[in-house]
This record gives sequence, structure tokens and C-alpha cells, in this order.
Amino acid sequence: MSIVKAGVIGHPVSHSKSPVVHEYWIDKYNLSGTYEKIDITEEELSVGIQKLIDDGYAGFNVTVPHKQNIIPLCDEIDETAKLIGAVNTVKISDGKLYGFNTDAYGFIENLKSHDADIEGKTAFVLGAGGASRAVVYGLLDAGAGKVLISNRTKEKCNEISMINPDKIQIIDWTDRNEALDGVDILVNTTSLGMAGQPSLGIDLSALPAAATVSDIVYAPLMTELLKSAQGNGNKIVTGIGMLLHQARPAFEKWFGVLPEVTEDLEALVLK
Ligand code: ATR
Repeated sequence: MSIVKAGVIGHPVSHSKSPVVHEYWIDKYNLSGTYEKIDITEEELSVGIQKLIDDGYAGFNVTVPHKQNIIPLCDEIDETAKLIGAVNTVKISDGKLYGFNTDAYGFIENLKSHDADIEGKTAFVLGAGGASRAVVYGLLDAGAGKVLISNRTKEKCNEISMINPDKIQIIDWTDRNEALDGVDILVNTTSLGMAGQPSLGIDLSALPAAATVSDIVYAPLMTELLKSAQGNGNKIVTGIGMLLHQARPAFEKWFGVLPEVTEDLEALVLK
């Protein structure tokens, strides 16, 4: 059997945990494949990708700063990637590039794997960057009744609210603490709380105890937000699961097996 080649493109890409995840699955499912980190700068993007096509790659993941720039280079992109406005997974078939976005799927699968109810619920998403777009799209696609969004730079919320203006409500950044009243799912998609960044600094007093709190930051795994949510009796969902679950459909596209997320894998990635 020939070797199936895949990887992750980005710049920088040295920090990526994706090889650990995909190599674990290649081994677990006894497949003949490789998954590497491939550093490609913005200027070299189209040349770098042509090289992957020429070298017979089955596809690749896309990380910072290429998630948007890759779009015009794709021959086709799926509906989800179009709506999110970013591609994180590419399959190469007959020299053509097919773009997908599995971030929304990864976020929702992670919530569901922690038994969080989404259908008809009210979610509150902090942040309005690329990750926020995928999270908001995922929540609405999974049946959330209402999504509140708040961002330091309020204008950035307007574009995200176009995903579904009837169900998305923009909250002033200064009103975020009060807006927690009645929220079922709170999600941090900002970079606040990440190692080396200031903490989110949110007062959870108004958040119902039955709410689920999720952070997409996973370094550290237990952010200040999650610690205070846990202290208040909220269910918490750490960010590592999104990283693991978003990788599943990508792996399936290249290697033909939909792999499982296990505790062993989570421990390995967090090592
Ligand atoms: P990603 O694609 O991972 O979402 P991003 O597009 O850089 O990353 O977005 C980072 C998010 O963190 C944004 O919502 C950003 O708010 P701004 O749009 O106002 O920049 C938010 N963020 C970063 N530093 C922040 C800070 N000190 N206070 C409040 N929000 C912050």
C-alpha cells in the first residue's frame, strides 16, 4: 500500500500539536501514512501548495496565517467554510484543492461529548475573531435559540451577526457581566487567559449555576475563567477537545477512517 501523506501548513507552525494527534491515529488504526509540520510563509503560499500537489499529498490542515488566504487557491470550498469565511482542512484530489472548515464541528462535538444541551439554548460568545465565527456558526447550526456576542472592538461583531441577524444579539463589551443573566452556554474565544496574556477578567455572579462554560484556550488547560466557573458549580468544558475533535473529519478525508478521541490521546497532547 502506498503511503498517504498529509500535514499542517502555517507560519510559524512549530508549535502545532496536530502531528501528535494525527500520528497517534495513524499508529492506532495501523495505517501507512505521515503527517508533518510544513512551514510556508504568506509570500510562498501558492508555490508551497503546488509543491504539495506535485509531491502527491492527500491534503493538509491550514493554520495561522493562511486560513483566509487559502480560499482563492481552492478549486471548491464547502458551505460551512464559505459561511465561516475560513478553511482549516484541504483535501487534494486529482490535483484539485477542496477546502473545508471543521472548527465548528470540533467545537460542537466537544460540547456534546460533555453532554451539554445546545438545542433552543442561549449562548454567549466572547470575542469576534476567526475562532468566534466558527463557534457562533456551530452553535446556530446545532440549534441554539439565541447567540449573544461581545467583543472589545464592537464593530467586529457586526460581520459575525450577518450569519443570522435574527438570532444573534450584540452586547457592549462593558455590559458583558450583566448579560450573563439567563445564559446557558458561555464561551471564551478571545486570546485572554492564554499563557502570557492577561486573564479574561469577567464576573460570573450573574451566570446561572446550570450554565456550561467553555474556553477555547487550552494552554493553560484550566484558565482563570474555567477555575471560577468550576468554583461557582458550572459545568466546564476545556479547550483541548475542540482541537482533537476538529481533527477527526480531516483525518477521515485523507486516511478513510473517522478516528476516535480518547483519554489517552488527550493526555498525550497535553504532555
Ligand atoms: P482568533 O482567530 O484565534 O479568534 P483573533 O482573530 O486574533 O484570533 O482574535 C482575538 C480575539 O481576542 C479578538 O476578539 C480580540 O478582540 P479585538 O477584536 O478587540 O482585538 C480579543 N482580544 C485580544 N486581546 C484582548 C484584550 N486585551 N482585551 C479584550 N479582547 C482581546
